[in-house]
Amino acid sequence: MSNAISTSVAVIEEVKKADFTFDPSIRRDHAEKYRTSEWYDGRGEIRAVEDGRSFQISATFTLESEVRLVDRVFDPSNPVLAEIYKTRGRCVAVVDQTVNELYGESLRDYFKQNEIPLEALVCRAWESDKTPDTVHKILAFLGKDGCDVSRNEPVLIIGGGVLSDVAGLACSLQHRRTPYVMIGSSIVAAIDAGPSPRTCTNGNLFKNGIGAYHPPVLTIVDRTLFRTLPKGHIRNGMAEIIKMAVTDDPILFELMEKYGQRLVDTHFANIDADEELEKVADEVIYRALYSYMKHEGTNMFETYQDRPHAYGHTWSPRFEPVAKLMHGHAVGVGMAFGATLALEMGWINEAERNRIVALCTSIGLSVYHPIIEDTDLMLKGQKNIRRKRGSSGLWAPLPTGIGSCGFAGEVPPDLLISAVEEHKRFCASLPGEGKGEEMYLSDLGLE
Ligand SMILES: NC(=O)c1ccc[n+]([C@@H]2O[C@H](COP(=O)([O-])OP(=O)(O)OC[C@H]3O[C@@H](n4cnc5c(N)ncnc54)[C@H](O)[C@@H]3O)[C@@H](O)[C@H]2O)c1
Repeated sequence: MSNAISTSVAVIEEVKKADFTFDPSIRRDHAEKYRTSEWYDGRGEIRAVEDGRSFQISATFTLESEVRLVDRVFDPSNPVLAEIYKTRGRCVAVVDQTVNELYGESLRDYFKQNEIPLEALVCRAWESDKTPDTVHKILAFLGKDGCDVSRNEPVLIIGGGVLSDVAGLACSLQHRRTPYVMIGSSIVAAIDAGPSPRTCTNGNLFKNGIGAYHPPVLTIVDRTLFRTLPKGHIRNGMAEIIKMAVTDDPILFELMEKYGQRLVDTHFANIDADEELEKVADEVIYRALYSYMKHEGTNMFETYQDRPHAYGHTWSPRFEPVAKLMHGHAVGVGMAFGATLALEMGWINEAERNRIVALCTSIGLSVYHPIIEDTDLMLKGQKNIRRKRGSSGLWAPLPTGIGSCGFAGEVPPDLLISAVEEHKRFCASLPGEGKGEEMYLSDLGLE
């Protein structure tokens, strides 16, 4: 060994010894003035291992998020948006094309009257637009050659579930995390996709395959926007309400049994509705949101797989794009099939299965599609979901009664096949053999 090398080894040994006279475990408290954003916080601890060759880190990330029911959010006298954007000097928004056609004038008027400059990207957001290309397009708008949003500037997203997924994903990528405020203008976006942390785009024939956990900092739910929602999309959104009713809230289930069809007919108590129905509509939305966020908001990063809101979403992500079904109808088939499977497993009785299926059919949701007879596809979907849910189990939420659920860790192929046969037999006796109204995507879905 040369002199030079032996000297440097000695120096390193000295440095190592000196280092470990310092605190081997460090937690830093950060000064508030350095905080990046009012919504996000993070702490960490670093522990040096005495071998001088490794150290361990544990870190936590916390976020503040809010869900708020608001009436007439674009009425210029409504302070909600102005309070967020006035002090920031502008509002950068991504707006669904159809929503822009219907509400663009009111939106622009709102910001004009409140003297807040608005920079808006109008974005077509059909299911077939749920692609990485659309995410890139939004990123170009948000990025330094576009509006150059700050990492502390909440982008306003207004639209349905497709836009909330892709624009939310773009926000998660912009500066690695840019906050956003979500106005869910469809029922799906208002009570499910909007407040959800799961932003995404479709991948190669597997829905929502690529994404990030990035919830909005504020979700605004304005039921009056559902007035213009086509009936088919109202029905579609009801599926996400029913999934929470079945798995978590028996009162919500009863409300849906009693008022579901009237809520569809009145565009959620916006057209020809009396005061009683308006109150019911608010209660249904609040209950659905509360049930959803009770589980989602306490498990924002899906670090646990006991997720009731995945009911109806175990096999459907695989068959939904192939059958070109509207999301709510795919979920309807998934929920009804799940109820029959739960019956086969002895988790619910026949009357409960029939009640779940009857609630779906009462508002025109599909409960059967021959695509579920494709065993290969179903098993592939099951395999995909098992991998997605961490491989420790399938963890398929299935009802254990009306308003409660359990999680099936395994569904062996034999059981899956016999449940499909039983479901087919049962649905053959239903009007239309379980087909729903307007069940197919009108924008031709994924190609
Ligand atoms: N991230 C999640 O956790 C999550 C949860 C549920 C669903 N999703 C996703 O959400 C999507 C479905 O969402 P969706 O049903 O809102 O579909 P969507 O976004 O396609 O919206 C439905 C249609 O309604 C239009 N629209 C929206 N608001 C309107 C209004 N107020 N008046 C008139 N028209 C209006 C839209 O332009 C669109 O044509 C699916 O891609 C699904 O995968 C995501």
